[in-house]
Amino acid sequence: MPPTDGDPHHAARLRLHQLDTADARAAFARDVASGLRSSPKQLFPKYFYDELGSELFDAICLLPEYYLTRAENEILAESADEIITSAAGDPTGSGSTTTPLALLELGSGSATKTRRIIEALLKRQGTLLYLPVDISASALDASAHALLQSYPALHIEAYASDYDTALARLAGERRERAERLLVLFLGSNIGNFDHAVAEQFLRALRGVLRAGDALLVGADLKKDRAVLEAAYDDALGVTAAFNLNQLVRLNREFGADFQPRAFRHVAEYNEAAGRVEIYIESRFAQVVALPALDMEITFAEGERIHTENSYKYDAAELDALAERTGFHCLRRWTDAAGRFSSNLFIAR
Ligand code: TRP
Repeated sequence: MPPTDGDPHHAARLRLHQLDTADARAAFARDVASGLRSSPKQLFPKYFYDELGSELFDAICLLPEYYLTRAENEILAESADEIITSAAGDPTGSGSTTTPLALLELGSGSATKTRRIIEALLKRQGTLLYLPVDISASALDASAHALLQSYPALHIEAYASDYDTALARLAGERRERAERLLVLFLGSNIGNFDHAVAEQFLRALRGVLRAGDALLVGADLKKDRAVLEAAYDDALGVTAAFNLNQLVRLNREFGADFQPRAFRHVAEYNEAAGRVEIYIESRFAQVVALPALDMEITFAEGERIHTENSYKYDAAELDALAERTGFHCLRRWTDAAGRFSSNLFIAR
């Protein structure tokens, strides 16, 4: 018997679904080809998270400049019980009258911050079904085993998948479930969508929920340019490595010959649009071959590939976003320094 993996308790409490295997690679190839042919050039944020990318993102969360994770963790550590009682429609916190909550998380990653919520739910209801969704199967597998080790009353149904595929799958299963759902969309995940896409996404998510289900959305707040730009361009260069890792991934998966040192990481706050824009910029004119896609890509000196937007919100925008997508923003928590918000949306 293998020393750790054969643990019968984990086997009984864990189901891991690998969705969308067959055409994931073909879709990646199509996205890369069309993104690098378009003008301006672009790559899609979900492809940041290969194994190294997921690890580098965990390192970003520990950086002094990247205040978001610490601010959200502060909110969750301080207010998890309050969040749960509000989500359960149980403001007195007695927990006696209400049905149990199941916990769905989109983009669970290492699920470190999730522990505050899991602990509050276990305290309230004794057992818990946790449904994490993440594009990185390696991150999902590692976090699921760590959580099961910590919490003997936890059951996990995990989906290695992008959001759209997972939501389509969960829509069917939701009808059979008696529990109410609390959905977590933490970090600055919502900020990675353009406004129209964020609305579309929340409406699609609303379609999977029943009235009264809850959604806790993390959203970074608008603030001083220097603070925002440092958060996305740290002194150690970890964020630069995270961004440029996309090129390394293209080298590995499509036989491309990107020289990471021939490019640099750029983070700029576009205040009018309310977003930090992330780019990979070519240091000089060059041509890069992508043999597996039968392409050659020409870069001018200073030409950029857009890799990510991170939108920053204010309270009024978040309230309006909830109303437009079939939710009501019941409560908002912020960290003591007022940098970051956790917003409890209730499905109407
Ligand atoms: N969701 C995170 C954010 O917008 C992702 C992120 C952090 C990120 N740093 C980055 C994405 C740098 C691209 C580049 O805050």
